[in-house]
Amino acid sequence: MLEAIAQRASVRSYKPDPVSDEEIQTILEAALHAPSANNARPWHIVVVRDEARRQQLSGVHRWASFCTQSPVVLIFCAEESCSPHWWIEDLSAAVENALIQASALGLGTCWIGIRGGGPGHALRPEEHVRKVCDIPAGIRVLALVTLGYPADSPRAKQPGPMDNVHDETW
Ligand SMILES: Cc1cc2nc3c(=O)[nH]c(=O)nc-3n(C[C@H](O)[C@H](O)[C@H](O)COP(=O)(O)O)c2cc1C
Repeated sequence: MLEAIAQRASVRSYKPDPVSDEEIQTILEAALHAPSANNARPWHIVVVRDEARRQQLSGVHRWASFCTQSPVVLIFCAEESCSPHWWIEDLSAAVENALIQASALGLGTCWIGIRGGGPGHALRPEEHVRKVCDIPAGIRVLALVTLGYPADSPRAKQPGPMDNVHDETW
């Protein structure tokens, strides 16, 4: 498990090789095993493969251009009324599970933040994504996750500093 977690790194350059339905299914299952407050499970995930739609998603803000390259983009959404106080945490746990499972399969991912405002775009990022994929009102969009085989070998990563871990008291 630690190996899959440690080898995960944001991938922004992808091979055109397709991701199989089985691989996508496994990643979705991992996401849907996440914990959620009150076990509300407010998650909805939109699987986008269509090139034209990925092109549209790539314009959501200036840090999403590589949606055109990854053969798949997953859109992580939540039904807000199911988990009004905790949908962000519920969705974040699902996103992280997906990233780690993809890493274990040798696939690359990048979390693209969508919630809130974004500079240089007429529509708020969430509204942009809602429009591209017909996501109804009441469904919140937290993140896009690009998914595909990495074009480059992943760079070596160090964990965050252990100095930031405190024993019993600060
Ligand atoms: C909430 C959140 C939003 C992010 N949004 C973007 C984004 O819009 N575009 C992008 O290229 N990377 C985005 N990232 C990826 C981070 O830049 C990346 O995780 C960070 O630089 C650490 O690198 P690593 O993922 O390789 O460990 C986001 C990550 C998180 C957790």
